[in-house]
Parts: sequence; C-alpha cells; structure tokens
Amino acid sequence: MISKKMAKALNEQMNKEFYSAYLYLSMAAYCSKKDFSGAANWFLLQYQEELQHATRFYNYLIEQDATVSLKEIAKPQKKFGSLLETYQQSLEHEQMMTSMLNNLSNDALKEKDHATYNLLQWFVNEQVEEEANVSDIISKIKLVKNDGYGLLMIDNELGQRTATSADSAA
Ligand code: FEO
Repeated sequence: MISKKMAKALNEQMNKEFYSAYLYLSMAAYCSKKDFSGAANWFLLQYQEELQHATRFYNYLIEQDATVSLKEIAKPQKKFGSLLETYQQSLEHEQMMTSMLNNLSNDALKEKDHATYNLLQWFVNEQVEEEANVSDIISKIKLVKNDGYGLLMIDNELGQRTATSADSAA
C-alpha cells in the first residue's frame, strides 16, 4: 500500500503522461500537415509510447490498491514552427518530465517507499534515452540547416522508426 500523498502524485504524473501522448499526437498531425511524413510516423509512435507510460502508472496504482483518479487532459498547441522547433519543443517537454520524475523519486525516498522508487527508476532511465534520442535528431536537423535534400533524408530516416524499435528509439 502506498501513501495517499504518493497516490495523488502518481495520479498527477499519469495525467502528464497522457498529456505527453496528446502533445505528440498533435506534433504528428502538424508534421503530416507540413508533409514530413517520416516525422509524423516518429511522433505517432511516441504518442503510443506515452500511452504505455500512462498505463504503467495506472497498473501500478491498481496493484497498490490505490485510487485511480482520471483528470482532464490539457489541450496541446496545434502549431510548432519548423521541424527543428518541433523537436526542440519535444526536448523541452521531456526535460520537464525528467525533472518531475526526479522530484517524485526524491519524495518516494523520503517516504521510504522503495516499491514506488523502483517504479520511478524505470522512468528515470527511460528519460535518459528519450532526451538523448531527441537531442540526436536536433543535432542532425541543425547540421543540414534549411537544406531541402538534407531535411528529406532526415525525414526518411524518422519514417523508418517502427513500433518494435520504439522502446529503444524513443
Ligand atoms: Fe513518458 Fe516521454 O515521457
């Protein structure tokens, strides 16, 4: 059994994961509109991955016999600027998620709640990979600047991301 305070915090984090999914779905739609079909594919897979993250919190709350409290999901923006700006906003979002997960980990340690701490360490590790992958994409986009052919090549590469590689590539 986890504390009421921790259950509340995990419910909030679950909501943020659902928001992440929503944000990436919006980024996918934006990239589709801009004819970056590869990036749209990449963000759609990211959307699915975030749903899995939210479900991981959901399952944990159920396992711990805590109350699941579903809240409204904030509305994401519709426009993100260039492909570079879209990925930069993705990175900023992930950095914010990392900070939240670190704070939650601190709270779990303060409460000596090691089960929750273990759950959160999975997420903390996942964040390292997520930030690294997005940073890598940003570096590539910066490298080609506004060169149309270069952007096309990057978009093509982003289009090769598959659901099975999503766990390691997102
Ligand atoms: Fe579930 Fe990308 O944070």
